[in-house]
Order: sequence, then structure tokens, then C-alpha cells
Amino acid sequence: MTTFIIPHCVSGFRSQATSLSKLSELEAPLRPKRKKVWVDYFVQFRRIVVIFVVLPITFTLYIFTYLGDVRSECKSFKQRQGEHDENEWDTKKVGQVCTARKSWIAVRMRNLDYKHACHFEVDLSAFRNVLDVDKERMIARVEPLVNMGQINRVTVPMNLSLAVVAELDDLTVGGLITSYGIEGSSHIYGLFSDTVVAYEIVLAYGRLVRATKDNEYYDLFYAIPWSQGTLGLLVAAEIKLIPIKEYMRVTYKPV
Ligand SMILES: *[C@@H]1O[C@H](CO)[C@@H](O)[C@H](O)[C@H]1NC(C)=O
Repeated sequence: MTTFIIPHCVSGFRSQATSLSKLSELEAPLRPKRKKVWVDYFVQFRRIVVIFVVLPITFTLYIFTYLGDVRSECKSFKQRQGEHDENEWDTKKVGQVCTARKSWIAVRMRNLDYKHACHFEVDLSAFRNVLDVDKERMIARVEPLVNMGQINRVTVPMNLSLAVVAELDDLTVGGLITSYGIEGSSHIYGLFSDTVVAYEIVLAYGRLVRATKDNEYYDLFYAIPWSQGTLGLLVAAEIKLIPIKEYMRVTYKPV
């Protein structure tokens, strides 16, 4: 592209002339049409692909997820906690650690090439249970893959709810904490991570710690939100609940 240096006094006139010449340039194709590749056919026939391929696969995955949720809900809180506490973390292995979660499961569009460099992939796919709902303390203790729908189904019948309920049922607690969970009620309660009172983290050398804002791991407590899983494996979180009622009064004030 040519750059025109235009003296200030005649700039109006000259720039008009330039834009005219540019218009005529535009009529010629910018680059020759490229040959169609298979992706173009995918896009062109996307209705067929979506209806006969994507939807059935998604439906099957949903059924599996649903059955997993039902299986988890059939267990008592005690049983779920027992299974959670049975997990052992190997402190002898050294090397880069990451979760075994595949990129196609996640909502985000992030390049996960860094996972190829990992020495150990830790499969956390079973960490999808609501471990406890403490009505006295108004705290839910959940594993990172628990999603919004699952946690609502447990707490709403108790007249309790998360303070920040991110809108999509599939969003997981782990994702909302280690990246940026937010919803309308954040105007009052802050980000999703601001409603968390404790994190259970497995550190890089295999040690499980519980970080709260006033124990020895308080630095970790403040560093975990938005850390994108870089500081350790989040294996449980204790999240504040708020009381809810069946109906709510809304006052409309025209402005
Ligand atoms: C929840 O609140 C409703 C009324 O708002 C009440 O009828 C119901 O008994 C409450 N449930 C529990 C578990 O407290």
C-alpha cells in the first residue's frame, strides 16, 4: 500500500482524490479465489452435519452426563466425601503436571498444545460431586467439575442458592473459579470466586492443602481466582450460599 504524505493546506482536496483512486482499486478482486477445501463443504452443508452428526453426539454426551449426575445424587454426602478423601496424591513424581481434560469438552476456545509437554496428566473427571451442603454455615463444598445445574438441584429444595449463579447449566465450578465467573448478581456479591471461602488445592509436589483467607495458605487463597489452573489442581471448593424464597418482589421504577 502507498502512503501519501499530504501537506496540511490541501489535505481536504488530496484525500478526496486518494479515496477515489482507492475505490477503483477495490473493484479488482483483492486476491484470486482459492480452491474449495473440505471445510468449505462442511460449512456449506452445515445443516446436515449439525442435524445428523453434531446433535446426536451432543445428545449422547448429555445422556452420559445426566446418568453420571443421577449416580452421584444416589450416594449420600458421607459416601461422596469418603470417596473424595480416598484420593491419594503422589508426592514422589516430579515433572510438569496438568489435567487430562480434553479441549473439546471445555467451553473456552483455548489452544491446549501446552498439554503435550506435560509429564503427568491427572484425570479429574470423577471430581463431579456435591460433597456437602452445610445449612448452618450456609456453605456448599463441591468438587471442581460440579456444574451450575447440578448444584442448583441440590441447594434450591433447601431454599438456598449460590450467590452468583452463572447462567449456563454446564458451567463448572472449577472453570468459574480459575477463570472469570460472573453473573448479574455480581453487582452485589462480586465475581464467582469472591463467594468462595476455601479452596482445596493439590500443589505441584503432590501435597493437598486447604487455603482460606486467614490460614497459612492465604496467599494461595487470593492467587487462585483467575489463575487458569497454573498454581495447582483445584480439587474442591467451599462456596457461600444465600437464602432464597419462592417468589421475589420486583419494583419497576421508570427513569
Ligand atoms: C422453602 O420455602 C418455602 C416457602 O417459601 C416453604 O414452604 C418450604 O417449606 C421451605 N423448604 C425448606 C426445606 O425449608
